[in-house]
Formats: sequence, C-alpha cells, structure tokens
Amino acid sequence: MLELIELYKSFGDKRVLNGASLTINKGETLTIIGRSGVGKSVMLKHIIRLMEPDSGKILIEGKNIFEFNRKELTAYRQRFGMLFQGAALFDSMTVDENVGLALREHTNIPEPQIQKIATEKLRLVGLVNVEHLKPEELSGGMRKRVGLARAISMDPEFILYDEPTTGLDPIMADAINDLIIRMRKELNITSICVTHDMVSAYKISDRIAMLYEGRIIFVGTPEEVKATDNPVVQQFIQGKAEGPIKVL
Ligand SMILES: Nc1ncnc2c1ncn2[C@@H]1O[C@H](COP(=O)(O)OP(=O)(O)O)[C@@H](O)[C@H]1O
Ligand SMILES: [Mg+2]
Repeated sequence: MLELIELYKSFGDKRVLNGASLTINKGETLTIIGRSGVGKSVMLKHIIRLMEPDSGKILIEGKNIFEFNRKELTAYRQRFGMLFQGAALFDSMTVDENVGLALREHTNIPEPQIQKIATEKLRLVGLVNVEHLKPEELSGGMRKRVGLARAISMDPEFILYDEPTTGLDPIMADAINDLIIRMRKELNITSICVTHDMVSAYKISDRIAMLYEGRIIFVGTPEEVKATDNPVVQQFIQGKAEGPIKVL
C-alpha cells in the first residue's frame, strides 16, 4: 500500500538514512523503533514529503510521491493525519481552533459545522468541554489527545504518530496506547508510529520495524521481535548497554 524503497538522506556529511526500505500494509499499525537520533522522525517526514530524500522512492498505489506535482501532493497530504512529537499545538489558539485548523484552511465547511466536527473529534479521543481552553491549561496527556483530535479532523486514511507516549507517565501512556488501538478499530486507520517505548510498541503494533544505522534491519510481529536472535534487536528491546549497538 505504501512502499518506502531504498531511501538515502544525509545532512552535511552525516548520513541518516542509508537505504531504508519498508512496506506498510493497509489497515495495519506498524511501529518503527530505534534509538534517539537514529532517524525515525526523519523517516516520518519523508512519508509526508516534508523532507526529500537524496535518492529513493516512496510509492503509493504504485506512484512515486516525490514526483507528485503541487496538486497531487496536496491531495496526498490530506490523506494523512500527523500527531507530532510534543503535540505541537498552537498556544495562542483555543483547543477547538487547534482541532479545526485544517478544516478551516483546506475546506469550505461553514464555521458552525467545523465547531461540531471539532467537538465530535474531541469526544472520540475522550475529551469533553475543553473546546475553549488554551493548550497551556491542559496536562501533557490532554495535549496529546487534542493533537490526535486535530490529526483525525479531516478523516485521514493514515495517521503518523511521532513518539506518542514519550514524556507521559505509564498510566497516561497506556491510555494513549488504547486510543491508538481504538483509532484503528473504529476508524479503520492505517497507523505508522515511531517510538522507543517498547511497552507501547508491543501493545499497539501489528508489526514492528527496527531502524538501525540508516536501514530497517528487522520487521516482524511483536512475537517475532521478542523471539528473534538478531543481537542488535535483542539489545535494543531488552535495553542493554552491552552489545553490538555502541552506547555513545
Ligand atoms: N533538518 C535537519 N537538519 C540537519 N540535521 C537533521 C535535520 N533533521 C534531523 N537531523 C539529524 O538527523 C538525525 C536523526 O534525527 P531524528 O530523525 O530526529 O531522530 P529520531 O530517531 O530521534 O527521531 C539526527 O542526528 C538529527 O540531528
Ligand atoms: Mg524523533
């Protein structure tokens, strides 16, 4: 459904993606794991073409997104919702303004209808009566929920989650995991998640892919990941300082 083929990307003389390939199937939740700084966010940014690779392709329905013209790119991006690391809400806007942002910018839906959609999306992520609050009045978990409500405002086919549980306490993290599972079940959304939280990865994922030294070195179900004898994967999932992955 979505095919990342041999992506290469360097910043200066630092190569971040070094032939990364990965296929994402319709309807699945696929989680990309890997250490901080390995290039997980960079990979997500390529998927919605916020970044261009030095070489490589991303195919959707057989078409390379890096060859899309402006109009095709806009249509492509509208198929995605993105929950950014730290939620990335606009502090000067109220919660409902944040959630309705894309609808206001990209559709002709009248304002009262946008308000209704915002309230409905907020309800879907478990928030009621928060429309008129400012992001600064919300807890970290609530901000993530608002970010998720905004990500689904345009009824996307795909959601990209960048570290959805990072920085949350374990209970709040689990509530966010449950929401990610719910998005898949109730909205039939294809999800691509990036995390280094293995508790979350095991719980939400149909498949887990590990990014290491610029490539996807392993893809499998949570059971397959746990059972693999790949020493790099084992070191990461067990969180050990000792092993083939250098600590520094
Ligand atoms: N816009 C950029 N300009 C220069 N370097 C970048 C840029 N974006 C990311 N990088 C570098 O790419 C590497 C991977 O970053 P990132 O994808 O954010 O890692 P993570 O796996 O933690 O999400 C890091 O070394 C980072 O400094
Ligand atoms: Mg990141």
